[in-house]
Amino acid sequence: MAESVLAVQGLWAAYGATPILQGVDMTVHRGEIVGVIGRNGAGKTTLMRCLIGLVRATRGSIEFQGRNITTLTADARAREGIGYIPQGRDVFPQMTVEENLEVGKLIGGSDARKLPDLVYNYFPRLKERRRQIAGTMSGGEQQQLAIGRALIGNPALILLDEPSEGVQPSVVQLICEALKSIRDEIGTTIVFVEQNLDTILAIAERCYVMEKGRIATTLDEIDAEHVRAQLLI
Ligand SMILES: Nc1ncnc2c1ncn2[C@@H]1O[C@H](COP(=O)(O)OP(=O)(O)OP(=O)(O)O)[C@@H](O)[C@H]1O
Ligand SMILES: [Mg+2]
Repeated sequence: MAESVLAVQGLWAAYGATPILQGVDMTVHRGEIVGVIGRNGAGKTTLMRCLIGLVRATRGSIEFQGRNITTLTADARAREGIGYIPQGRDVFPQMTVEENLEVGKLIGGSDARKLPDLVYNYFPRLKERRRQIAGTMSGGEQQQLAIGRALIGNPALILLDEPSEGVQPSVVQLICEALKSIRDEIGTTIVFVEQNLDTILAIAERCYVMEKGRIATTLDEIDAEHVRAQLLI
C-alpha cells in the first residue's frame, strides 16, 4: 500500500454546542484522487474546514504525511503543504489574476513553484486574463484561479470543496482534466467534495459517502449507478 498522506481518526467537530462531525475516519494515500460525497448538510464542508484548521477538532486526530496536525493553525497547515479551495472559491476580487497568484506564492516560501508558468500551463485561460481584475471573471475562471493560487504554494495535498459549483459544464470538464494532469505530473494528492455526478465520474478513484457527520460508506469503484444512488440518499 502506498504511503498515507492523510489519516483521519475519530474526528469530531461542532458549531457551538451542535456536533457536526461525529467520528470521521478516512485515509488517503499519496497520489490518490478521492471524492467526498453526500447530501446537503451532511458535514462535507465542515470536514474540509476541520482538515485545513478553520474549524477546531473537539476529538480525534488528523495526521498529514505522518505528522499529527490536529492542533496546528490553518496557516501552519498550509505551510506544511495543504492547499484549500473553499466552496464558492475565494479569490481576492479586487486584485488581478497575477496578483492573486503572487499571494499564493507567499505560502510556498522558497519552494514556491515558478510563477506563473506552472499554473498558466494547466490553465492557459489565466494567462490570457492575467491582468484582469479577478472579481470580474466568470465563475469558471475564478475557480481556475483559486486552484492555481493553491497550486503555487506547492501543496502535497489539495482540498477542494465543490469545484463544479457555478461553473459551466465545458469548463468543469477542463478543470477535471487539469486536476488529473496535476496529479499525474506532479503527484499532488487530491480530496474533493462534490455533488456533480459528471465530475465525480471524471476524476474520483474512490469516494467517501458522508451522512450525518460520519463516513457512512466508501465506494472503492466508481460507477454511475452506485454514485447516483448515494447522491440521492
Ligand atoms: N458556521 C456555522 N454555524 C452553525 N452551523 C453551521 C455552520 N456552518 C454549517 N453549519 C451547519 O452544519 C451542518 C453541516 O454543514 P456543512 O456546510 O458542513 O454541510 P455540507 O455537507 O457541506 O452541505 P452542502 O452540500 O449544502 O454544502 C449543517 O446543518 C449546517 O447548517
Ligand atoms: Mg458544503
